[in-house]
Amino acid sequence: RATGPLAGRHVLVTSGPTHEPIDPVRYIANRSSGAQGTALAAALRDLGAHITFVTGPASVPPPQGVTVVKVETAREMLAAVEAALPAEAAVFAAAVADWRVTNAAERKMKKDGSGTPPALSFAENPDILATISQRAEGRPRLVVGFAAETDDVIAHATAKRARKGCDWIVANDVSPATGIMGGSENAVTVLTAEGAETWPRMAKDAVARRLAARIAEALA
Ligand code: C5P
Repeated sequence: RATGPLAGRHVLVTSGPTHEPIDPVRYIANRSSGAQGTALAAALRDLGAHITFVTGPASVPPPQGVTVVKVETAREMLAAVEAALPAEAAVFAAAVADWRVTNAAERKMKKDGSGTPPALSFAENPDILATISQRAEGRPRLVVGFAAETDDVIAHATAKRARKGCDWIVANDVSPATGIMGGSENAVTVLTAEGAETWPRMAKDAVARRLAARIAEALA
């Protein structure tokens, strides 16, 4: 039986990229590894929470001792998140594809010999964070989003927090010069209704543990 400040609490975490199919063997994806979301889920688990971990095709394995729901597309991720509710807190660390291909082929696409490439059409994917943040009923008490920015980090993240309707935004500067993207350290600013709090640069696992402790405090 779990012990710790989050014992008996259900926390939802999304993680990893999504894959949006072009045909049965091809897809559009992004460079997310899932490291951030995985570290957070492990830190929240260590505080005693029951975790539902909704993950796209990540390159790091999911943590032990959590309920893993594997999905591929953004729409599957939204459905899995909705099916996992209610939860007391939800942390959206996934790098969800903004667009999906609307004319994905049922069979592998072939070159037709004419030299004409296929034309892909796109539609916007649902915004999972905004959808859950703006739910009239069954909204988690605490909804946390992430924002990776390359410039004006605080201004962009503040606007994002308002637009999406989440409680906190964890913002980081992913400009190449910081070495944060793909690196083992992170420097984040946590934006809440009370304002912006910039944490010193530290290991990503340490960011996860500190954020998990803040979540436990908020739910206490
Ligand atoms: O708008 P942007 O993609 O920068 O927002 C990032 C935040 O929104 C992250 O928390 C991400 O998990 C979430 N998001 C989402 N569904 C989308 C796009 C982003 O949940 N379709």
